[in-house]
Amino acid sequence: MWKTLLLTVVALALPVTEGAVLCYYESWAIYRMGEGKVTVDDLDPFACTHYLYAFAGINPDNTIKVNDPWADLCTGGGLCGYKKFTDMKNKNAGLLTLLSVGGWNVGSPAFSVMAATAATRSVFIMSAISTLRAHNFDGLDVSWTYPTLNGGAPQDKDNFVNLLRELEVAMTSDGMVLTISVAPTMEIASQAYHIPSISQYVHFVSVMTYNFHGPWDPYTHHHSALYPFINDTGNNLYLNANEAIRYWLISGMPAHKMMLGVPMFGRCWTLNGVTNTGYYAPASQAGPPGPWTSQWGYMSFAEICKAQKANGWTIAKEIGCNEPYTYHLSSRIWCSYEDTESVTIKATFAANEGLAGLMVWSINDDDAHGYYTGSKFNLTWTLSNTFNAATN
Ligand SMILES: *[C@@H]1O[C@H](CO)[C@@H](O)[C@H](O)[C@H]1NC(C)=O
Ligand SMILES: *[C@@H]1O[C@H](CO)[C@@H](O)[C@H](O)[C@H]1NC(C)=O
Repeated sequence: MWKTLLLTVVALALPVTEGAVLCYYESWAIYRMGEGKVTVDDLDPFACTHYLYAFAGINPDNTIKVNDPWADLCTGGGLCGYKKFTDMKNKNAGLLTLLSVGGWNVGSPAFSVMAATAATRSVFIMSAISTLRAHNFDGLDVSWTYPTLNGGAPQDKDNFVNLLRELEVAMTSDGMVLTISVAPTMEIASQAYHIPSISQYVHFVSVMTYNFHGPWDPYTHHHSALYPFINDTGNNLYLNANEAIRYWLISGMPAHKMMLGVPMFGRCWTLNGVTNTGYYAPASQAGPPGPWTSQWGYMSFAEICKAQKANGWTIAKEIGCNEPYTYHLSSRIWCSYEDTESVTIKATFAANEGLAGLMVWSINDDDAHGYYTGSKFNLTWTLSNTFNAATN
């Protein structure tokens, strides 16, 4: 009888399952040139259920930091990024907007210092909540890459749990949402996280199932494969989304809190030669920077589509793999990326696994203006349509 009663109570407490699509927006996409520029005004308030503004930082005094006051705030003729972002809720009343703190620029040491004591955590939490309230955000996303690593300290693993627990307590009274993004692989996740403990305090965990391979490898491969490639061996057998999700599930993260991360960007190499163009082709250099994202070894989906309009690009898939790669022999550029078809398969996978939904990094790298696929935010909409069709 008690068991029945308990089950009933638990069932009532569970939220109604509705596919969530969490979209990170890189606020620095406003500085891109020409058609690569994506402002908050360009975003579609209906493409995602949650929009996450990347990134806020951490000040030396442990308060939350507005990273780019001119872009983020309205003061002094600023661009009002935060306000315009949270004002998307005026168009879509069901939308939630979160401020994301962290990213690679913040660095693990700043998080480590902030999370180290109850006093420093409290300074951060109070300043974060007052910033969220001041700008009408609905919650906070913590993107610490990664506790204990990259200059962090061993005690980060416990302190991250403490931080999330105290944040959750402080934010719940405001009805705010707490999310985190996490490393996908066992290698990093087992060092950085007490998975069952963090699962108690967060609404959603976005597993960053991409960057499994990249120009740091001396050969080509897909950076966001769902399943292994037939010729994978050793550790490479684990560097795919399916393995990562399996790891998170068996480690104690409930499926209904997990989001499968889907990249709107490709990872690119410069091939050493032109005879081998599949996976494991020797490629000791990164691909050249794209015109808008300006990073070696990285191109947005929109940049890849634009490049492919020129002559000489081939699009291919390896045997048994869902995700495309594309290369241009005369420039020897080779990129692994996602297209409409591959994201459809990922959304179906997420639905079949009973996950909460999908995370998109980042919405501004999708076909934001619809110049290439014929529809704005094509990949993001495909994810959301497919997931909802598969779960309803
Ligand atoms: C897998 O590796 C074998 C042996 O190196 C090679 O002959 C074969 O072409 C590879 N298969 C694919 C699909 O690349
Ligand atoms: C995405 O683009 C493809 C091809 O460009 C098109 O067939 C499809 O309908 C588009 N999907 C959405 C959701 O707009």
